[in-house]
Amino acid sequence: MDGNQNHDTEDKKGRFPLESRMDHPEETVIQVGNEKSAGGRTSCETTRGGVPMKRIAVPVSQPYEVLVGSGLLERVGELSAPLLSGRRAVLVSDSNVWPLYGQQVTDSLQKADFRVERFIFEAGEKSKTPQTLLDLLNHMAEWELGRADSVFALGGGVTGDLAGLAAALYQRGISCVQLPTSLLAMVDSSVGGKTAVDLPKGKNLVGTFTQPRLVLCDPDALATLPARVEAEGWAEVIKYGMLGSRELLDELAAGREDVDVEDVICRCITMKRDLVTQDERDTGPRQLLNFGHTIGHAVERCAGYGIYHGEGVAMGMAIMTRACVRQGLCTPQCRTVLEDLLERYHLPKTCPIGVERLLEAARMDKKRRGDAITLVQPSQPGRCILRKADYRDLAQILEEGIPL
Ligand code: GLY
Repeated sequence: MDGNQNHDTEDKKGRFPLESRMDHPEETVIQVGNEKSAGGRTSCETTRGGVPMKRIAVPVSQPYEVLVGSGLLERVGELSAPLLSGRRAVLVSDSNVWPLYGQQVTDSLQKADFRVERFIFEAGEKSKTPQTLLDLLNHMAEWELGRADSVFALGGGVTGDLAGLAAALYQRGISCVQLPTSLLAMVDSSVGGKTAVDLPKGKNLVGTFTQPRLVLCDPDALATLPARVEAEGWAEVIKYGMLGSRELLDELAAGREDVDVEDVICRCITMKRDLVTQDERDTGPRQLLNFGHTIGHAVERCAGYGIYHGEGVAMGMAIMTRACVRQGLCTPQCRTVLEDLLERYHLPKTCPIGVERLLEAARMDKKRRGDAITLVQPSQPGRCILRKADYRDLAQILEEGIPL
């Protein structure tokens, strides 16, 4: 999937080809996309109230738009009001993000005649629990929110997942507007409708697929990101390059200072939009977005969430890629390209946790069906495939992929 648009490879509905390799009946290999198809610059320039921004339409079961542009956090009220019939809003944010942008967004909502309630929780994955969710839902009931009212998720991935799930559940579903403030949330978690909280047994085990009503990405918010939080966002960007765009990988290789971040955000969202549109519920090509995630989630859980999501994904991608190179499934260049980028963007490529603990933690992976698991494997830079494998194959991947 790449910026270089080539519609020859798409079918009439604009979907990318799925190929099943049946020469190894014990494994189904699904190959999605092609270097020249998606991931391109398919966002349109638009203006709202005379201000330029990018617009990416997401034509899923409940279609919505992602707007990307400088200054959007000041315009949350005016941009969302035409889409929402109720005028009560719950602004959900964490203890890090609220002091930075909470008042600005509240002012903007109030200016558009919303009555705003706030729910602020302690920052970090450790808050992404059923208890925090229940707390939020109880507050929403105490505030007597109705079906026409809305939840606004202001923050990173944890906030988006938690607030999105509360909106999906409250009175069987009310609108959610995603206001991602981290790079990771902008390029990945705020788009596509995955909502969840964690259980002690594993990450994201309770959740729904519920699309947001609107997503507003304001790249200005990235200026306040702590370095480690920004770095974990780059792990997801590198993921997009690895799974579908050699061109993006080459651009990233130039280094953070030379990258047009707003353009990169739009391209990642466009790639995600293309996959989610084909496969809203993550049973087909959308699973490509899980590159590095099965191992990454296990790492996060083993580390008691002291290792961030993007860091876990970086380790997961590196382990899977090294294993694939050693098994002859992937070009050695793929490992070099990935590891160079991980280093350049201050991300880990080795994992401090051993095979046994990771395997145990991966047992509850949602992507597992009995003993079958769908692995996302790189084959060359800019291309990954889906392979149905036995859960026990993970042991070999970890054993071969953990050592440098
Ligand atoms: N974060 C992967 C997905 O939304 O499918």
